Amino acid sequence: MTYLTYTSYIFLVLAIVSVAGGVADKPNSGISKKAFGRMADGTTIDLYTLTNNQGMRVAITNYGGIAVSILVPDRNGKPGDVALGFDNLEGYLAKEPYFGALIGRYGNRIGNARFKLHGVEYKLPANNGPNSLHGGLQGFDKRVWTAREIRSEHPALELTYLSKDGEEGYPGNLNAKVVYSLTEDNALRIDYTATTDKDTVLNLTNHSYFNLAGEGSGDILKQEIMINADRFTPIDSTLIPTGELREVDNTPFDFRKPASIGARIDADDEQIKFGKGCDHNFVLNRSGAGLSLAARVTDPGSGRVLEVLTTQPGLQFYTGNFLDGSIHGKGSKSYGRRSAFCLETQHFPDSPNKPSFPSTVLKPGETFRGSTVFKFSISK
Ligand code: BGC
Repeated sequence: MTYLTYTSYIFLVLAIVSVAGGVADKPNSGISKKAFGRMADGTTIDLYTLTNNQGMRVAITNYGGIAVSILVPDRNGKPGDVALGFDNLEGYLAKEPYFGALIGRYGNRIGNARFKLHGVEYKLPANNGPNSLHGGLQGFDKRVWTAREIRSEHPALELTYLSKDGEEGYPGNLNAKVVYSLTEDNALRIDYTATTDKDTVLNLTNHSYFNLAGEGSGDILKQEIMINADRFTPIDSTLIPTGELREVDNTPFDFRKPASIGARIDADDEQIKFGKGCDHNFVLNRSGAGLSLAARVTDPGSGRVLEVLTTQPGLQFYTGNFLDGSIHGKGSKSYGRRSAFCLETQHFPDSPNKPSFPSTVLKPGETFRGSTVFKFSISK
């Protein structure tokens, strides 16, 4: 070997070692795919796992865009799954309360299952008493989305779905796109965009059920919540907003200072009775149009903290009041009453019938954009 080739050889070895070292620094970050099951018509459904280098792992299926599991380290670095759900597709195909799913076209309720747009009345399926809930009988949570893996700076999964004109009663062909990405600061970010070819209404969200102590580990009543909202939207007995924006001051809905979820959940209060606990939309205090802090939940036991940031005007805080132990989720664990909470970032329920609420109308030529971040950390 001449001196020159010897030197080049050494450089080559050093280059390989440094690239391998770089990879070794990031042994886990990436995205992987495996089969999750089959639909009745034979369509195969996949499960994509996004992994970062901080011990966080999020599995998402293209059936309903469901976040199936969210693994987050506790204060001792031990990972735990903080999302309720099922081990396989069959669980999600049975009747279940939207665990982890993408919700559309319209998250939460539309009163009397109808709304008027430019004088035309649109009738929707009434699947929740007299009201239409979470997009109808076959909302976005029950659709097969087209998935595309994105390997850029952060592992990400793009999901797209074309909701045809008239689907579940809604006007316009709606192209929806949702991108889940997992960053190195333990944030699961969800970016929503949508376009339409006719005026329509839209309210997209994700319906993850969180238990920061781990799914199936009992109730969430000792976990502490702060909600950045001075007002909430009171509801009637069928959980439709009355139209009022009520101050949280002197109500069980004042979470501006952290309080345990259980502290006022059975308060002698009409609103609490209607919701059977907390099942209310909060009017978020916002500054500007970007992401801003909506809520923070802390679990004193595990030390896990979840912060929710969003561009949306509202947040549905639902304390799992309708879970009753009859559903057996991952590892056949039974999910009892209040064994999880949902923080659904959204426009206000029933906005299409409430002209005073921020508009949910989307027109041709416009692009709806919304983002939500679920950021995990450990309490000091
Ligand atoms: C609603 C609850 C409902 C739950 C599951 C929440 O968004 O506000 O009333 O029970 O979703 O459907």
